[in-house]
Amino acid sequence: MENNENVLRRKLEMVCGVPLFWSIVEEWAQVESFQARPDDLLISTYPKSGTTWISEIVDMIYNNGDTEKCKRDAIYVRVPFMELIIPGISNGTEKLAKTSSPRLVKTHLPVQLLPMSFWENGCKMIYVARNAKDVAVSFYHFDLMNQLHPEPGTWEQYVEKYMAGRVAYGSWYDHVKGWWEKRKDHPILYLLYEDMKEDPKREIRKVMHFLGKDLKEEVLDRIVYHTSFEMMKENPATNYTMVPNDVMDQSISPFMRKGIAGDWKNHFTVAQNETFNEDYERKMAGTTLQFRTEI
Ligand code: A3P
Repeated sequence: MENNENVLRRKLEMVCGVPLFWSIVEEWAQVESFQARPDDLLISTYPKSGTTWISEIVDMIYNNGDTEKCKRDAIYVRVPFMELIIPGISNGTEKLAKTSSPRLVKTHLPVQLLPMSFWENGCKMIYVARNAKDVAVSFYHFDLMNQLHPEPGTWEQYVEKYMAGRVAYGSWYDHVKGWWEKRKDHPILYLLYEDMKEDPKREIRKVMHFLGKDLKEEVLDRIVYHTSFEMMKENPATNYTMVPNDVMDQSISPFMRKGIAGDWKNHFTVAQNETFNEDYERKMAGTTLQFRTEI
């Protein structure tokens, strides 16, 4: 790895007004020209919305519920993070070029920045969205421990930055709305984290149908069990403990932190909540997309 000081905790840079990790921006030409294949499955999310969870579910479905096969490697190897290019650590586009089909591909890109080849190839996509307040809390804790992003500052400061879209991948509001609109003319299964918490089996069944698979009840039950928060927290292939400490310091905050809907209530003050709600109404006006902030 290059000297960590040159790589980690640097300020975000912009691509078309969206703040991203600096070396993704430097290498943007590689991302933009990424070659999707027709049988790729794209897993897209705003950060901290349940990416790892849906990735494990999809890998389990692809492997017919074989838990051992799904422990073959860390989730970020089984489902490479397309745009993540970190000098000396990772290059998602190169990794995927060497991956045999059918590939599972992870992205956090807002819809307008997705490489054209995904649309041209008619790739299936699964998008998972989570309510804005729980994402803010999860993202704050993640930015405390994840050295790839700038220091989050205090929670007070972070909420301001988050509402203004001055965090990695930009505005949550634009992200969830952009992908929501796109589902009208493209095969995108749009899922909600809160629905997955409420009834994981129902949502896993939706994923299975979308992927054109037919698994037995007992296999579905195994997938539900294996992909529960408690199981994934203990599983080294899903809990990110294989990432070196100097990149993700899980003693500050574990990657598998709480895994619930409604934790925002433990963090937002009454005043912060009021300001957030007012701003939310403005930014989400006119969309049919609805979230639950508790279940
Ligand atoms: P919290 O920080 O609120 O606990 P991502 O994978 O997109 O980075 O999202 C991480 C968030 O999803 C974390 O939220 C993590 O705990 C939660 N998560 C991961 N696996 C989960 C599971 N099986 N069930 C519920 N939540 C899960």
